Amino acid sequence: MTHKLICTIPKVASTYEIEVQQGLLSEATALAEVLEKLASRVAIISDTTVAPLYAQGLQSALSRKGLNVDLFVFPSGESNKQRATKEMIEDQLCKKGFGRDTCILAIGGGVVTDVAGFVAATYCRGVPLIMVPTTLLSMVDASIGGKTGVDHPLAKNMIGCIYQPKKVFVDPAVLRTLPLNEFKNGIVEMIKHGLIADSDYFDFLNSHASKILLLEPSLLEESIWRGVLIKKNIVEEDETEIGKRRLLNFGHTIAHAIEHATAYEIAHGEAVAIGMLVEGYMAVELGMLSQNAFLKIDAILKKYALPLLIPTHNAVRYRPELLMQAMTLDKKSLRGKPRFVMLRDIGHADPCAGNYCMPVEEETLLKALRWMAHAFCTS
Ligand code: GLY
Repeated sequence: MTHKLICTIPKVASTYEIEVQQGLLSEATALAEVLEKLASRVAIISDTTVAPLYAQGLQSALSRKGLNVDLFVFPSGESNKQRATKEMIEDQLCKKGFGRDTCILAIGGGVVTDVAGFVAATYCRGVPLIMVPTTLLSMVDASIGGKTGVDHPLAKNMIGCIYQPKKVFVDPAVLRTLPLNEFKNGIVEMIKHGLIADSDYFDFLNSHASKILLLEPSLLEESIWRGVLIKKNIVEEDETEIGKRRLLNFGHTIAHAIEHATAYEIAHGEAVAIGMLVEGYMAVELGMLSQNAFLKIDAILKKYALPLLIPTHNAVRYRPELLMQAMTLDKKSLRGKPRFVMLRDIGHADPCAGNYCMPVEEETLLKALRWMAHAFCTS
């Protein structure tokens, strides 16, 4: 079954379709039709993991359909989400004579969609962009809403812009080759989508956990398009993250501090899972969230077999003061104070007078971090 969702960003008059369908990629017909209308040359951008799995096959399939397609590949991994990679791709595009009649096709996970999106946003002052996300996380999050960019050695996602694609093609069939820990990174963001915006979706993920983990096709497809729908609805309301889009950050303020403290040894999804519990704990402490709702969050994360453990061999670095220092660098911080998305219930976050996040007393934060150390650090 095909699910077609339309994303409309009024401020930049951008409207694009997000299509979710099993087998979309192996067919490549729908993709070819869209590309033909957009440009006379196609530059596929991918990484060394996804290129042999999907990008090379796609290049051949599109070439067979008569399209003029080149493939640009960079080494996989977050460490390559950097300016040098963008420059390397731009140099190659220039050398091969790619001009304004180019369409960039990004195929890969969040690193690829971010880098390729940023290239598309600036090459020839902007060329059309098609997203083909191949990780669950990039399907339900990174490929939608136009965030593009690279990291700076001192901070993640420091350099970039918002640039909306012309179309997003989501083929859940590609998840068969995705490692389980990567799959769980996506699951955690889907649970987060349910928590901040849609209790029915949360219940759906909760009831079908075992089958979704086994990639049962129709349940997986439904879980993806419903997750996409939540993300799309939020970015339609707030493209540039001055309000509601901040909700997508639920759990991330704590998660980023944990990732920083563990030198990124912990998987992003695992850090966000713990982050959601710690931020949920604060909401309970503040009387905003019921204990019952908090226990439901804990239960669903356990159902999806998230380890909920922070690596402990450098536990000294989890001292609350150090974590709090890391949090002040969070993008939602205001005058050096971190702010947090606050849940009111499953499926409902507090609007916080249009800010969609709020600071908490240091005492509450410290208590939550001590609880975290006790609950999730093994030593
Ligand atoms: N990944 C969060 C956002 O797109 O705003």
